[in-house]
Amino acid sequence: MSVVIKDLSAHIGESVALEGWVETTRSHGKVAFLILRDGTGVVQGVVLKKAVDDATWEAHGSLTQESTARVVGRVKQDDRAPGGFEVEVESLEVMALAEEYPIQPKEHGVDFLLDHRHLWLRSSQQRAGLKVRSEVQQAIHDFFYRRDFTRIDTPILTGSIGEHAGTLFETDYFGDPAYMAQTGQLYVEAACPAFRNVYCFGPTFRAEKSKTRRHLTEFWMVEPEVAFADSEDNMRLQEEFVSYLVERALENCAEELKVLERDTSKIDHVKPPFPRLSYTDAVARLTERGHDVTWGDDLGASDEAVLTEDYDLPLFIYNYPKEAKAFYMKENPDDPRTVLCDDLLAPEGYGEIIGGSQREDDLERLRERIREEKLPEEAYAWYLDLRRYGSFPHSGFGLGVERTVAWITGRHHIRELIPFPRLMNRLYP
Ligand code: 4AD
Ligand code: MG
Repeated sequence: MSVVIKDLSAHIGESVALEGWVETTRSHGKVAFLILRDGTGVVQGVVLKKAVDDATWEAHGSLTQESTARVVGRVKQDDRAPGGFEVEVESLEVMALAEEYPIQPKEHGVDFLLDHRHLWLRSSQQRAGLKVRSEVQQAIHDFFYRRDFTRIDTPILTGSIGEHAGTLFETDYFGDPAYMAQTGQLYVEAACPAFRNVYCFGPTFRAEKSKTRRHLTEFWMVEPEVAFADSEDNMRLQEEFVSYLVERALENCAEELKVLERDTSKIDHVKPPFPRLSYTDAVARLTERGHDVTWGDDLGASDEAVLTEDYDLPLFIYNYPKEAKAFYMKENPDDPRTVLCDDLLAPEGYGEIIGGSQREDDLERLRERIREEKLPEEAYAWYLDLRRYGSFPHSGFGLGVERTVAWITGRHHIRELIPFPRLMNRLYP
């Protein structure tokens, strides 16, 4: 019977078959060892020369790093062994001998590792980070499912610019220009009158010409849109949502966070309410600290780092100047120079993980903003229709999955938190 390593505890004393990849082997005369990884865990196998036939002994001797093997053996509990079990090998069969493996247990440069991303995925820290990503993605769906949101899949090829013209990937669509979606937002807004509360979750694309630790050209974003919600409701949803994602990672990924050496005391208290600071107060605080910032500018990574220093929870910065933000955000009736929006900044220097806003629901003001931004009005006829046929107050936000998982896992660069990162200078593998 073939079993997987994570289920070995149910087979103590039994003889089982395991299939997997060999991480290392060593041999001391008449006793030899191998570490086998099968994607669910890692286990040590012990081969005694006198207990196996020659074919098995020789097969063990031929194993190279990352060879595929089928091992039959008896499961023994051993608290000293990694994973808590050991397998006394009865027979071993090589399924495929691996050529000399490029990734060795030593320091490699990051470019080398990214060139070998298809193999680097197998390393323990990479596996741990991507496991947390998978858990967070599942938690995202669970959160919205339990709150009765309907999932709406939005198009990746679009004719209307979702955010700003500066970072578009353009492609030829049978002679006309099409863009890779920067956001699904405009489309989830259209789905609200059909389903009330909705969300989309998929890859989004930005031709970012910046090589920073928090920019990818292809990243995953989840975007809820809520009917009859204002900016305050929006921030409350965000803090509950982010707290839930952290809680799920702590609950179900304790092993992975340990592999990543994450200091979980930095995140185990992440619960609502999160602190809030208006943009105007943020600029005043930055100026006080000697930072060169002008009211009207968007905040950059270094501004965000200074602002979050004072907090051990994510921090909301709300109501930015109109000119710093996208065309669809609702004008603030109390200060028309600003819009009803927020960015949520993660602590420990991670910075913006969410951008959200109440949407402009006034037809004329929205049309005016589209003109001011010099966006092609024809492409937004359908979007303006949403304000013609039953306009309604509504709000939503977008959370970047890689940035959120980088913060939760404490990894420096978000490129490790997506299986195959797309960066300005990288399309391979
Ligand atoms: O602030 P952004 O641009 O907001 C939107 O796209 C809105 N349409 C969302 C909405 O209201 N429905 O992006 C949202 C989040 C950012 O806070 C960040 O976490 C992530 O998406 N993000 C990126 N992540 C990785 N690489 C990039 N180049 C990113 N650009 C944005
Ligand atoms: Mg933003």
